Amino acid sequence: MQDTTLPKTLTLGRPDDFHLHLRDNAALSAVVGFTARQFGRALVMPNLKPPVTTVAMAAAYRERILLACGANATFDPLMTLYLTDNTAADEVARVAESEFIYAFKYYPAGATTNSDSGVSALKNVYAVLEAMQRHGVILCVHGEVTDPSTDVFDREAIFVDGALQHIVRDFPALKIVVEHITTKEAADFVTAAGPNIAATITPQHLLYNRTSIFTGGIRPHLYCLPILKRETHRQALLKAASSGSSKFFLGTDSAPHAKNAKEACCGAAGCFTSHAALELYAEAFDASNSIDKLDDFASRFGAAFYGLPRNAGTVTLQRETWTPPDDFAFGSEKIVPLTVGRSLGWRMTDL
Ligand code: NCD
Ligand code: ZN
Repeated sequence: MQDTTLPKTLTLGRPDDFHLHLRDNAALSAVVGFTARQFGRALVMPNLKPPVTTVAMAAAYRERILLACGANATFDPLMTLYLTDNTAADEVARVAESEFIYAFKYYPAGATTNSDSGVSALKNVYAVLEAMQRHGVILCVHGEVTDPSTDVFDREAIFVDGALQHIVRDFPALKIVVEHITTKEAADFVTAAGPNIAATITPQHLLYNRTSIFTGGIRPHLYCLPILKRETHRQALLKAASSGSSKFFLGTDSAPHAKNAKEACCGAAGCFTSHAALELYAEAFDASNSIDKLDDFASRFGAAFYGLPRNAGTVTLQRETWTPPDDFAFGSEKIVPLTVGRSLGWRMTDL
């Protein structure tokens, strides 16, 4: 029987997704509408092939995104540039002047999907980081070491304890977002750091642990990087997300891959969540009795960190059990969402 004391609807300020993969061409057209329906803005990751490395490339990509949104959309894509060993310090000044680029994304070379052009050694980008600190440009960090001999479940904690500490020590005023954190170590580091250090948290890392990947067989749609961790880490992330600390905010890392690229002998990393992003977060916050903390996490803290006003308008979720589709069209292929095989307890209304 339904508990009548529980709120049946939840209205939030129109939220922002501060970590999103939109891809390009037919894939972009297939997914962007899901995000534009729920979010006012999204920070768009630059890991295309080839990566988005210049202001000019980001401007062209942004135009393609707006075109894919259609004429009436109010969705505002916030662009990022992909940091490489060869990024010129001059590019930082151009980013600082640009009205639509909000951050550089640092991928250690080889850490994840399309990261071959990433940074091979931190010292290669020290001049660029110095320029970013000087110009107040934000650095978004994929926080994993890439040494293939390092256990995949340890890669984030080792990065936090090494490279991340070094960046924060050497560039104490640099604004950093540690992306998609997955461990207690990362959450503790961000909590203890200064106000210039924040983190995004994905829905999958709030809802699932590493055992979920192997429940009843291998579940490729739960495979993303950084990989899901132990239950103790999931609990630590939930605590951080619902702590009321403005350092933790929403970034889905929704990362679409075709069904046959995920369900393969060497499956791609990335979970697709844009079709029900807010519902997934609501599920996680509700299960930890902190649904009242979702509004700040989803629509206030990220915008404040990025120096943006809150979006106009609201979105409303209602308590309703529903099952999202098992797949969606993805160009000539299909995409299978994270939610395959599960129902959700909240649903966004289109009121
Ligand atoms: C992302 C992708 O597919 O682009 N994959 C993922 O597992 N998260 C890349 C990334 O953000 O690491
Ligand atoms: Zn990502």
